[in-house]
Amino acid sequence: MLIIKGLSMSFNKGTDNELRLFDGLNLEIEKNRCTALIGPNGCGKSTLLNLIAGSIKLDQGQIILDGEEITKLKEEERANLLGRVYQDPYMGVSPSLTILENMALADKKGERFTLKRLIRKKNIDRYREILRELNLGLENKLHTKVKYLSGGQRQSLSLIMATMKHPSLLLLDEHTAALDPKTSDLVMKKTKELIEKHAITTIMISHNLKDALEYSDRIIMLNRGNIILDRRSKDITEDQLMEIYRKKLEMVA
Ligand SMILES: Nc1ncnc2c1ncn2[C@@H]1O[C@H](COP(=O)(O)OP(=O)(O)O)[C@@H](O)[C@H]1O
Ligand SMILES: [Mg+2]
Repeated sequence: MLIIKGLSMSFNKGTDNELRLFDGLNLEIEKNRCTALIGPNGCGKSTLLNLIAGSIKLDQGQIILDGEEITKLKEEERANLLGRVYQDPYMGVSPSLTILENMALADKKGERFTLKRLIRKKNIDRYREILRELNLGLENKLHTKVKYLSGGQRQSLSLIMATMKHPSLLLLDEHTAALDPKTSDLVMKKTKELIEKHAITTIMISHNLKDALEYSDRIIMLNRGNIILDRRSKDITEDQLMEIYRKKLEMVA
């Protein structure tokens, strides 16, 4: 479980351009569930994930992950507890390395190593098994450089790499937004399979209300750093969500 207590954060603090994004935000994310985070552009979704991951510092508040306070941990230290997949298919992988090399790097996240030492027969078999569960044929392309994969294959590989160390929390930031609709569907399905199979606590930012509803257990709508809706996904339809989205945003505009 992730607990966020009294989170406050401004960009450009103390300047004329100060932008107060969060002002005492409280939020609990249940374990082994997928929580979708939606809201208009610029409402602070990505910033919230960056604050959780430690890529951006908070001004006030506490972040507690599975009972451990991580607020003061550095980004690299938190990286051992977190998995992340970004919108840009190049962010989560090293394009000029092979699938095998990328997986070996993800496998040894946070450890000292040399790539050559890592790529051992028993690891290769394990990586092949992990890739096989994706069902995209990547297990037969271990020596292909990642830059030659399609966007969908790359995002699926990013997902596998982000989850192979069984992170306490998986952060997905519009990870299908750069894909065509059919590939996006495929990657969403793979995402659901993986997080259910391994029971991974997930926060998924989505620009797509339909996906957010279909693939999450709970849906949270942010606006200007405030939670304006928090529901079980099964208790709300896409039309209702759309209506609330429109109304609430008009109200607070
Ligand atoms: N590094 C930064 N410096 C200043 N302002 C930023 C920075 N990153 C994001 N912002 C601003 O913070 C707001 C929230 O951004 P973001 O969290 O990326 O929104 P979302 O992901 O919900 O679209 C936006 O107004 C954005 O311009
Ligand atoms: Mg964003």
